[in-house]
Amino acid sequence: MICIFGASGNTGGAAAAFLLKKGKQVRVVGRQREKLAPLAKAGAESCVGDIESSGFVREALSGAEAAYLLIPPNMATNDFRAYQTRVIDALAGGIEATGVRHVALLSSLGAHHTQGTGPIVALHDFEERLKRVAGLNALFLRAGFFMENVLMGLGSVRAQGIYSGFMPAEAAVPMIAPADIGSYAGGRLERLDFSGKSVVHLIGPKAITQTELVGILGQAIGKPVRYVQVSLGDVEQGLRQAGLSPSLVSAFMEMYRGAGQGLIAPEAGGSVVPMPTTFETFAKEVFAPAYRS
Ligand SMILES: NC(=O)c1ccc[n+]([C@@H]2O[C@H](COP(=O)([O-])OP(=O)(O)OC[C@H]3O[C@@H](n4cnc5c(N)ncnc54)[C@H](OP(=O)(O)O)[C@@H]3O)[C@@H](O)[C@H]2O)c1
Repeated sequence: MICIFGASGNTGGAAAAFLLKKGKQVRVVGRQREKLAPLAKAGAESCVGDIESSGFVREALSGAEAAYLLIPPNMATNDFRAYQTRVIDALAGGIEATGVRHVALLSSLGAHHTQGTGPIVALHDFEERLKRVAGLNALFLRAGFFMENVLMGLGSVRAQGIYSGFMPAEAAVPMIAPADIGSYAGGRLERLDFSGKSVVHLIGPKAITQTELVGILGQAIGKPVRYVQVSLGDVEQGLRQAGLSPSLVSAFMEMYRGAGQGLIAPEAGGSVVPMPTTFETFAKEVFAPAYRS
C-alpha cells in the first residue's frame, strides 16, 4: 500500500490517480472526506485527519510500503515556521515509528540553501531530517514555480487586463504543472527505483518570460493582457492587504528576494528533469476556464 498525503491537492491527487490506474493499493490522506471521494470511488482507502497530529500521521502510515509527503500550504497560521516544523516532526516521526522504507518528498528548487529562501528553508530542513533516518530510501522532488500560482493574478486580469509581478518582463521562468509532479512521483513510487537519499529537480518544458506569459494568457482568454512590473514594496503591501499574517508576509518576501538573487534554482550539477505540460496547455485548460467561471 502506498500512502499519499495531500491527496485531494494538485500534486498528491495526480500521484494517487496515477497509482490507482496502475492497479496499486493506495491510501489517500486529507482533512475533508468529500474532497477524497473521487479517489475513493476509484478504489483508494480514505484516511481523514490532520497532518499536524503525530498520532494521526502514524495511523495513516501504518502498513505502508511507501509514501508521498508534502508540507501543505497554510494561509491561516499566525506562525508559519512553527506550523512547518510541526508538520515535519509529525511526518518524519511517523516514518521513523512505522518503518516505511520509501518516501517521495515534495521539496522545492532552492532547498539546498540553508537560508534566504523563506518557506523553502523548511523544505531544506525536512530533507536533512529525512537524511538522518537510517535505512530510509528518500527521493527529494525539488519542484519549480507552479503554473497554478498564476491564478493568483486572475482578479486583476479580469478587472484591468493586467498581470503584475516583481520579476523583470524579460525574466524567464521554467514553470511546472503540479499534476506533472504528481504523475512523476507516482511513477517513482510505483517502481520504487530509488535508494539511499537522492534529489531530482523538476521543471517545466521551457522557460518563458513574463512578456511571453501574458501573450499566452491573452490568447487563451481572447483578450489582451499586459504585464506590469511592480516593486517588492508593492508586493509586500499587496500581501498585507490580502490579510496574510506578518509571519507569512515575511516568509514570502524572503522567498521573493531570494528568487531575485537567483537562489531558487537547481543545485549546481544536480539532475534536472523537464516535465511535459506547456504553459499554453495550462492557459487553455486551467486559466481560461477559471477566467470565464
Ligand atoms: N507553489 C509553488 O510554486 C511551489 C513550488 C515548489 C514546491 N511547492 C510545495 O508544494 C506544496 C503544495 O502542494 P500542492 O499544490 O499539491 O498542495 P495543494 O493543492 O494546496 O493541496 C494541499 C493538500 O493537503 C491537504 N491538507 C492541507 N492541510 C492539511 C492538514 N492540516 N492535514 C491534512 N491534510 C491537509 C489538502 O486537503 P484538505 O484541505 O482536505 O485537508 C490537500 O489535499 C507547497 O506547500 C510547497 O511546499 C510549491
